[in-house]
Amino acid sequence: MRSHKCGELNVAHLGEVVDLCGWVHRRRDHGGVIFIDLRDRAGLVQVVFDPDLADIFAVAESVRSEYVLKMQGKVRARPAGTVNSNMATGEIEVLIQQLEVLNKSETPPFPVESDIEVNEDTRLKYRYIDLRRTEMQQKMRFRRDVTRCLRNFLDAKDFFEVETPYLTKATPEGARDYLVPSRTHENAFFALPQSPQLYKQLLMIAGMDRYYQIVRCFRDEDLRADRQPEFTQLDIETSFMNEDKIMAVMEDMVRDVFTQTLKVELPAEFPQITYHESMRRFGSDRPDLRIPLELVDIADVMQAVDFKVFSAPANDPQGRVAALRLPNGSKLSRKEIDILTKFVGIYGAKGLAYIKVNDRDAGLDGLQSPIVKFAPAEVWEQVLTKTKAETGDLIFFGADKASVVNEAMGALRVKLGLEHGFVEGKWKPVWVIDFPMFDWDAKNKRWNAIHHPFTAPSCSVEALEENPGEALSRAYDLVLNGTEVGGGSIRIHTTEMQSRVFKLLGIEAEEAQQKFGFLLEALKYGCPPHGGVAFGLDRLVMLMTDSPSIREVIAFPKTQTAACPLIDAPAEVTDMQLRELGIKLRKPKVIPVA
Ligand code: AMO
Ligand code: AMP
Repeated sequence: MRSHKCGELNVAHLGEVVDLCGWVHRRRDHGGVIFIDLRDRAGLVQVVFDPDLADIFAVAESVRSEYVLKMQGKVRARPAGTVNSNMATGEIEVLIQQLEVLNKSETPPFPVESDIEVNEDTRLKYRYIDLRRTEMQQKMRFRRDVTRCLRNFLDAKDFFEVETPYLTKATPEGARDYLVPSRTHENAFFALPQSPQLYKQLLMIAGMDRYYQIVRCFRDEDLRADRQPEFTQLDIETSFMNEDKIMAVMEDMVRDVFTQTLKVELPAEFPQITYHESMRRFGSDRPDLRIPLELVDIADVMQAVDFKVFSAPANDPQGRVAALRLPNGSKLSRKEIDILTKFVGIYGAKGLAYIKVNDRDAGLDGLQSPIVKFAPAEVWEQVLTKTKAETGDLIFFGADKASVVNEAMGALRVKLGLEHGFVEGKWKPVWVIDFPMFDWDAKNKRWNAIHHPFTAPSCSVEALEENPGEALSRAYDLVLNGTEVGGGSIRIHTTEMQSRVFKLLGIEAEEAQQKFGFLLEALKYGCPPHGGVAFGLDRLVMLMTDSPSIREVIAFPKTQTAACPLIDAPAEVTDMQLRELGIKLRKPKVIPVA
């Protein structure tokens, strides 16, 4: 139907007769001449209709935005003074000699433009129109470039692409499963995979050596800007490689993708930080290293003060008292501090104590704060020294259970950094290593695996059993600008260790056999030492395109309530389908009265 794409025409085509197809982006009538910006995937080109050809001029007059047209015309230079340097095709235009309307269009619910003000639900309901917008076209193209680049890298390194099943059994990654009822097996359900974790381990036992897959994962969990119920992982597993080697290859891959797609050179070696150091300095296991502000522990100087809010957590082994200095922060108004106090409240903080350092050299007189009165001058002097405070600074304090302080002050650190311009550099990757194996679930009185139950400990099984809370794992996360973009570990590769880890997690032998018997058995048949990692592809592309959410880089994402407004999913099914599946609804459908 066409000889060229609209967006690819330029002065090299001057004088050529071209056939074009595309959408009416904009139509302008100018003193008897009609101009249309015709759009296709490659971009826009200006086409011109001269009134001399009365028939096609009449058709051109009738077309509206988003009509689909086919036309033939001659490429000519734009007259002097009408060249548009903002447009790739801005030096030329096409004088049309033939025109056919291939299809009409209703007026679209929003314009196919870059800066539109329209709510996200409408964009998702009409995603096929939203995706016509240049911004979305660029994001989809960029995502395609990233996956292409990742594939090229892994193929060249002899990784082997294998597909694993979607109809499977629960793989514990910490979320709820999406279940699929089986028609052929009464009362039985498949689970959609939260990740291909166990299949990729089985592939190592199968001798595949180096595996990868760009694969959909399904997790029924609370959604956020960087979480979708179905999302894509770049999933990787290798045999006979230790964690240093795996991290080195993955770094090469990430560097390669950044160079190729963004022309950005990431550091030659990504820094590594232990989990404990990261929590201590940044209150988070996904530290945004672009922000230089850090938490400083002051529990040791607060143990004896006459201010319970500080002294109680200072004396509690589970507690934490931390200070965060905001350089030049003393100019913050009461109102601004109130807003920040509300902000930390979201993370469970009961307040946000602060000190304004009006004059660093004036002792207590130089400090302005509702809490100075609660402790003697020596204590504050130590706090100022520890936080390296200077005149004009503001120091915030968090005191509570360590988990609350870390969450609240960690989030405050990032917020202050971004809002007050304390951001250094554009891309700051970091590996977080030496995670604990488990954390204690006080409510259910049991240990939970921090990564997943197949992660190897870095100690012996005896040491692990003796002190599960202290044991570290051989897991590693890749964090980029404060977002966890990937995570992996060296796996347990013996039945003995795997059984004992299940037991520590409160999965008794019978349950372990029922849920993971296949794995325990497979580990007996010559399982190589192995390990791997999975990257959140959507998250990586979100960061690389500077998008506010992963929904912006997924062609057909779900809403915040895990629904698709476009095709209206999830939806009810017929009684017949339910009967075949042996399912009876607990809250039967309400049948409207006619
Ligand atoms: P993990 O659960 O850490 O590890 O997931 C790996 C990466 O996937 C991304 N991710 C998500 N992205 C969007 N929406 C979600 N709901 C979501 N959940 C996770 C994150 C995360 O870093 N099998 C292990 C990997 C391994 O051990 O090899 C796993 O799935 O970027
Ligand atoms: P109060 O004695 O409760 O009025 O608190 C005095 C100051 O301490 C106020 O600025 C509170 O915001 C702050 N504050 C209260 N609880 C905490 C806490 N757990 N962590 C940090 N600051 C707090």
